Amino acid sequence: MAKMEVKTSLLDNMIGVGDMVLLEPLDEDSFINNLKKRFDHSEVYTYIGSVVISINPYRSLPIYTPEKVEEYRNRNFYELSPHIFALSDEAYRSLRDQDKDQCILITGESGAGKTEASKLVMSYVAAVCGKGAEVNQVKEQLLQSNPVLEAFGNAKTVRNDNSSRFGKYMDIEFDFKGDPLGGVISNYLLEKSRVVKQPRGERNFHIFYQILSGASEDFLCKLKLERDFSRYNYLGLDSAKVNGVDDAANFRTVRNAMQIVGFMDHETQSVFEVVAAVLKLGNIEFKPESRVNGLDESKIKDKNELKEICELTGIDQSVLERAFSFRTVEAKQEKVSTTLNVAQAYYARDALAKNLYSRLFSWLVTRINESIKAQTKVRKKVMGVLDIYGFEIFEDNSFEQFIINYCNEKLQQIFIELTLKEEQEEYIREGIEWTHIEYFNNAIICDLIENNQTGILAMLDEECLRPGTVTDDTFLEKLNQVCATHQHFESRMSKCSRFLNDTSLPHSCFRIQHYAGKVMYQVEGFVDKNNDLLYRDLSQAMWKASHSLIKALFPEGNPAKINLKRPPTAGSQFKASVATLMKNLQTKNPNYIRCIKPNDKKAAHIFNDALVCHQVRYLGLLENVRVRRAGYAFRQAYEPCLERYKMLCKQTWPHWRGPARAGVEVLFNELEIPEEEFSFGRSKIFIRNPRTLFKLEDLRKQRLEDLATLIEKIYRGWKCRTRFLLMKKSQIVIASWYRRYAQQKKYQKIKSSAIIVQSYIRGWKARKLLRELKHQKRCNEAATIIAAYWHGTQVRREYRKFFRANAGRKIYEFTLQRLMQKYFLEMKNKMPSLSPIDKNWPARPYLFLDSTHKELKRIFHLWRCKKYRDQFTDQQKLIYEEKLEASELFKDKKALYPASVGQPFQGAYLEISKNPKYKKLKDAVDEKIIIAEVVNKINRANGKATSRIFLLTKNNVLLADQKSGNIKSEVPLGDVTKVSMSSQNDGFFAVHLKEGSGAAGKGDFLLSSDHLIEMATKLYRTTLSQTKQKLNIEISDEFLVQFRQDKVCVKFIQGSQKNGNIPTCKRKNNRLLEVAVP
Ligand SMILES: Nc1ncnc2c1ncn2[C@@H]1O[C@H](COP(=O)(O)OP(=O)(O)OP(=O)(O)O)[C@@H](O)[C@H]1O
Ligand SMILES: [Mg+2]
Repeated sequence: MAKMEVKTSLLDNMIGVGDMVLLEPLDEDSFINNLKKRFDHSEVYTYIGSVVISINPYRSLPIYTPEKVEEYRNRNFYELSPHIFALSDEAYRSLRDQDKDQCILITGESGAGKTEASKLVMSYVAAVCGKGAEVNQVKEQLLQSNPVLEAFGNAKTVRNDNSSRFGKYMDIEFDFKGDPLGGVISNYLLEKSRVVKQPRGERNFHIFYQILSGASEDFLCKLKLERDFSRYNYLGLDSAKVNGVDDAANFRTVRNAMQIVGFMDHETQSVFEVVAAVLKLGNIEFKPESRVNGLDESKIKDKNELKEICELTGIDQSVLERAFSFRTVEAKQEKVSTTLNVAQAYYARDALAKNLYSRLFSWLVTRINESIKAQTKVRKKVMGVLDIYGFEIFEDNSFEQFIINYCNEKLQQIFIELTLKEEQEEYIREGIEWTHIEYFNNAIICDLIENNQTGILAMLDEECLRPGTVTDDTFLEKLNQVCATHQHFESRMSKCSRFLNDTSLPHSCFRIQHYAGKVMYQVEGFVDKNNDLLYRDLSQAMWKASHSLIKALFPEGNPAKINLKRPPTAGSQFKASVATLMKNLQTKNPNYIRCIKPNDKKAAHIFNDALVCHQVRYLGLLENVRVRRAGYAFRQAYEPCLERYKMLCKQTWPHWRGPARAGVEVLFNELEIPEEEFSFGRSKIFIRNPRTLFKLEDLRKQRLEDLATLIEKIYRGWKCRTRFLLMKKSQIVIASWYRRYAQQKKYQKIKSSAIIVQSYIRGWKARKLLRELKHQKRCNEAATIIAAYWHGTQVRREYRKFFRANAGRKIYEFTLQRLMQKYFLEMKNKMPSLSPIDKNWPARPYLFLDSTHKELKRIFHLWRCKKYRDQFTDQQKLIYEEKLEASELFKDKKALYPASVGQPFQGAYLEISKNPKYKKLKDAVDEKIIIAEVVNKINRANGKATSRIFLLTKNNVLLADQKSGNIKSEVPLGDVTKVSMSSQNDGFFAVHLKEGSGAAGKGDFLLSSDHLIEMATKLYRTTLSQTKQKLNIEISDEFLVQFRQDKVCVKFIQGSQKNGNIPTCKRKNNRLLEVAVP
């Protein structure tokens, strides 16, 4: 549910209070408790007015996602929960829309999360500002400058695994639209002593470890390095690996970032060569060598390392070797060379390494600036982000800590100045009376350090420049004299010291009460570090290097540009740059992020009350709240205030038409808030006590609940009513449709009933009318008939005297005659053809001519048949006679017959007279041959067929051998008694002979012929003409044949079509011969 709510104010769903200004009661305990409560609920940000307090969560929280960026984009500062994004958005919009240059000051002690905060600010601004290929490249370059600088300028310390060991101020430049154009980075004093020595538990700068872990073998070989931390004296061994840090992966990130920022390959290469050279310098060792004059002179123990360095950097080995052994001092135009003892040689070596590295770092910053420099000359708006090393207290604090803490002191100063100033300005702007507030002003500490005459830095410079022996002790002495009376300076040696008996304060130390706590500084090394001396021989040796980057890092080594003036000391340089920075910051609109470290263990979820309390104290946060609450705890512009609380008063709810201020006045009057509790500014309402605000909030909450109930009520009412109205409307629609339907049905029923009734009535009426009309008609007809008969009688009676007796008959005959005449004339024209097969005959015209017409048809047909027959020759006549005979004999009796009708009867199929083979046969038969044909004679024994010549003459039937022509049998026609055949479609026939005749000795013949019909017809006719007796022709499917003594039955059966259409004959047994006809 909570997630669904839309936030419109910081006050919604607060854990503790989101703005410390609203804290009640305001004291240290409640302050810390509020921070703790919020921290425990993962709320790491809390406001003091417009200042953001950030507690390092030491774990990744899901509050930096792109969605969060969108949520905070273009929202008012107090609209959402406190967040670094809200501050970034406010700053960016103020820069873009109101044209105010901004600076974001991030302070806090080491490990409190300053660097992370600065990166969050940058990434937020990058996400919300303009887009486009060019702009994106600028953004990317700005963001990628971070990993490069972190690799070279950050190191693991006991307080922070990624501690910034340099100060960084970055100006991001924007055009009038708010698109980034570029940036400028300023760096402040790198802690270079770390290069040669690291306190216990700490590491050198990240880059050394990154190279050794991440570079390829090849690359390492080129740099003449080995992948072994223990090989290098400059790398403290006890914490070479840091938990959760992947040096190898970071190396790749750095190289990639360098490429994006715009480093050329050869530049990257040079940079790493310098890093390698620094690392190897640490391995150069010296040994003492006695000289004649009794002095010790140092000599390099193993020249191998030196040789490799020289190869890497392109320096003449002898030059470098000499620079480590001699020192040339120029005095009064005279050069004096002195030898270096071992300690001096080591000092020179370390100084060279420190200088090389710190100059390389400065060069990197310059090089990055070159890349990210804005490319236009148009006026730019600027957002500065300051991430400087945090206030730190170590066991041994030296010059570096002094400088770092001084810087933090200055930042605190500017914070006090600016917040107070802003607060005061706001009161003036709003026309509200300003009351003075007590708070600790650290200007006094700044003065202790930077005062031009009596400041510690001035003192140090004086010592460094003073002729005579100068040591750290003389410097401390001086301090003891000058600063002894200063409230914030403590030393055991000072005159009338309060600390004479303070054993916690060693003699070689002095202590400063910083705003953030007391810090004891070891005086040792102050003078040297401030002098920051590099023997000229070394810088000249470096300048002589053929390595262009190294040469460029040591311009003072150029003998042509020898400058006898001392270079400014490190302290004064730093002081000057801090002063410039402060001036710069003062011109900009400040935004503060105050980082707090919740514990010393770098661990999540641990909130060390004492530690936080200490930081809250020295950061002056309570004072900050007090200043902010001076008089009035809370202020808000009239519009949002009215918008938030307008529901508390009838006049302002739901809309207030007048100016917002008047609305707020009405509202406050109505709520009866005591007058001393608020004050009306020009654009803001000021509320004195948080109590009042919380009362307003409570009232609002209550009212919101009531309003919610009201809205719910109205909504429910509205919903029910709309539902009711809808139902009502629907009911009417349904009812009207139903009524329409019911009426329609009723109407249709009435209509159809009416039609039925109507039709019955009409029918009844029509039938009645019809009856009447019929009756009338019959009356009329009857009257007509009666009248006709009556008239007929009258007329006949009248005319009888004029007619003869048979006139009627004559008229009848005449009429008949005329009709017949007409009939015949028409017949003549319609006569059919003379073809006997033409069946056409005209239709009968009159019924009474029916029989005449049929008779006429018959006569006509007979006549035309006769006509047809008359055309025949004798021969044709004979043929037709024979055909007629065959028809009478076989039509409808023998199945073979129809096939024979179309075949002409030829008789002599074999031309015996012409074939010489049959000459003998010809000679033997002297009669006229009627049939000569080859037939098959069926063998009575087995049913097989033998070819025989069948001859029919006028008197005889002959069978002759087909080959030889020899006559086998000769039967006079008178001996043939009968011919038998089947009714089927076969050519078998039996010639039965008269019993006892000469030919009958062998028995009857069973033959088969293709011309059975012709042969049987001719045999019949010849027998009839010769013997005047009709030959008996028996047609039956079973008949008996006499073979010698036996009678054999020939039986015709339905056979298969195995042999085609040829009937087959088989002897079945003695008495049965079976012919299968297909
Ligand atoms: N907002 C954050 N969310 C998660 N972890 C954080 C956050 N801020 C800081 N840290 C963690 O704390 C560590 C220290 O933070 P950071 O390096 O920013 O400290 P610093 O204030 O810059 O310290 P120094 O002064 O030493 O540079 C980071 O490496 C990171 O692990
Ligand atoms: Mg940092």
